[in-house]
Amino acid sequence: MLRQLRPQSALFKQSPSRLLATCMRAYSIEATSASTIKLQDIDPSKLSITKTKTPKELVPPNELVFGRTFTDHMLSLEWTAADGWLPARITPYQNLSLDPASCVFHYAFECFEGMKAYKDKDGRVRLFRPTKNMERMNKSSARIALPTFDGAAMIQLIAKFAAMEERFIPDTRGYSLYLRPTMIGTQRTLGVGPPGSALLYVIASPVGPYYPTGFKAVSLEATDYAVRAWPGGVGDKKLGANYAPCILPQLEAAKRGFHQNLWLFGDEEYVTEVGTMNMFVAIKNKETGQNELITAPLDGTILEGVTRDSVLSLAREKLAPEGWIISERKYTMPELFEASNDGRLLEAFGAGTAAVVSPVRNISWKGNLVECGLRPDQEAGEIAQKMKDWIESRQYGDEEHEWSYVVPK
Ligand SMILES: Cc1ncc(COP(=O)(O)O)c(C=O)c1O
Repeated sequence: MLRQLRPQSALFKQSPSRLLATCMRAYSIEATSASTIKLQDIDPSKLSITKTKTPKELVPPNELVFGRTFTDHMLSLEWTAADGWLPARITPYQNLSLDPASCVFHYAFECFEGMKAYKDKDGRVRLFRPTKNMERMNKSSARIALPTFDGAAMIQLIAKFAAMEERFIPDTRGYSLYLRPTMIGTQRTLGVGPPGSALLYVIASPVGPYYPTGFKAVSLEATDYAVRAWPGGVGDKKLGANYAPCILPQLEAAKRGFHQNLWLFGDEEYVTEVGTMNMFVAIKNKETGQNELITAPLDGTILEGVTRDSVLSLAREKLAPEGWIISERKYTMPELFEASNDGRLLEAFGAGTAAVVSPVRNISWKGNLVECGLRPDQEAGEIAQKMKDWIESRQYGDEEHEWSYVVPK
């Protein structure tokens, strides 16, 4: 903002040349300082580390339950509107102490990420496409007036943290360390406005394979009485506030014997997402007879899944040369119903960090059970199986690829 330092009357008493210099100085100093008062961004070199004195016992890998056990430490950074990002700290895992009036508790100033660290065959720790998670987190935080940050600096800190917790990552295929970056508004106020302070922290939880005994295809219930997201809304952001309202429809689906619910949108009954995963279907195109892999487009109602992007990329790289059409386009339940009846619905699967891919057996919709191309003795279609193998091979570093970020020792 431009602000004059002196009252006008003082300026007029000066000679024209001096006046010009003063004006320029006044304006340029103010303008420069206004545009260069940059609050400090994250500086990984300022990290301080306090190690725990009571290391936890490791839970045997086969007893791990998703998101129940946590590692010894946590990474945290505070932000204030006056100073920007304060130095990061790795401390023993501990409770937070927050004022009950903190804005996170009242107006849901919270966003988060879900990403994983993997151990490769040489014992090195790897992150998978962490830049994508940091970009998405910055979009989420900016949307709810929380601060943004330098994603590359944050990746360095997360890598240090993951390296410290390395002993919690089992070196068996399918196991990993789930990382949960979280940002909350911490300002003590009941006034509705942008938070003047925030906390960014990362906790880590060792996790086992989503399907320990191999794929298990799921049955879905299409939800026609509630929507997850809408145009102009925030369904494409990873805000905690998007998740709590999704539990009841999931419970409703479970009550009727379905594993998950399928989110539809609009009178056309567009297929959007499955539970907390992006949805893919493979169909034989009605007009051309060509195989087509379809997922909903990023129109603001779909979360930009890292796995979704990876599936699309791999499909363009490996399936398109075999004649597949790869489409990010809207598709509807009536279209799937028709394809299923014609025997053209080849397979369907969800895609997300937790499971990589989750094959779908059928979808309950308007009193019909829409079969999704699997034989009764089959738990996954060919594309779902290939995608899981291709993605895991890059996650675990079997295939050296730019998507894999090797954590420095
Ligand atoms: C609503 C929703 N859609 C899709 C995804 C999949 O995203 P990703 O592949 O980045 O895990 C998630 C998982 O975080 C999600 O919560």
